[in-house]
Amino acid sequence: MKNVVVIDHPLVQHKLTIMRKQETSTASFRRLLREISTLLCYEVTRDLDLETVRIQTPLCEMDAPEIAGKKLVFASVLRAGNGLLEGMLDLVPSARVAHVGLYRDPKTLVAVEYYFKAPDDLGDRLTVVVDPMLATANSAIAAVERLKERGAQNVRFLCLLAAPEGVERFTGAHPDVPVYTAAIDDHLNDKGYIVPGVGDAGDRMYGTK
Ligand code: PRP
Ligand code: URA
Repeated sequence: MKNVVVIDHPLVQHKLTIMRKQETSTASFRRLLREISTLLCYEVTRDLDLETVRIQTPLCEMDAPEIAGKKLVFASVLRAGNGLLEGMLDLVPSARVAHVGLYRDPKTLVAVEYYFKAPDDLGDRLTVVVDPMLATANSAIAAVERLKERGAQNVRFLCLLAAPEGVERFTGAHPDVPVYTAAIDDHLNDKGYIVPGVGDAGDRMYGTK
């Protein structure tokens, strides 16, 4: 699929398999999501530009690489996005954070916004939108639209699992935003759940069902 990166690292795939299992506990699900998110973060930042700075080691001066440009923004789509956010911040602690509060209306599957807060200067930064699930893509499309309205120009979308239908819709709506995911599953069921999937990511993370 165009503009989609499937992160097939063996550690990611192994951890995802454990998360899919019905018997995996809330505590394990949350821990695994945090672990996987550091690995996904590694891939989504793989091609960041570097610049050279002059530093002094204990032995001598050298020209050493560091990440160029302004600090990244991680935009978490609440609430399940926070499960990915934590691990991303472990790896990039200086990142700025945006929160986009959205829930799916269970009948219409339309994304309803209930919260939005983002740094002012999104235009100058790479914004990585994080949400474990890309199902119908209603939430992802709405979140990216909202961030673009606020000035974001360089955006990537990172999830754990995607449905083929969601990838198609998202890349149609935002052709400039690459999607990074650990897997593209088989299909969406009639309730908009990804099959085989992991179930409801938020409920599994927080034990709310
Ligand atoms: C889940 C998930 C995504 C959305 C994906 O959130 O975290 O945000 O569904 O579905 P979509 O692609 O069809 O929009 P949910 O609405 O269940 O809210 P929660 O994170 O608060 O549990
Ligand atoms: N949201 C989830 O949490 N899981 C799905 O399978 C689809 C949407």
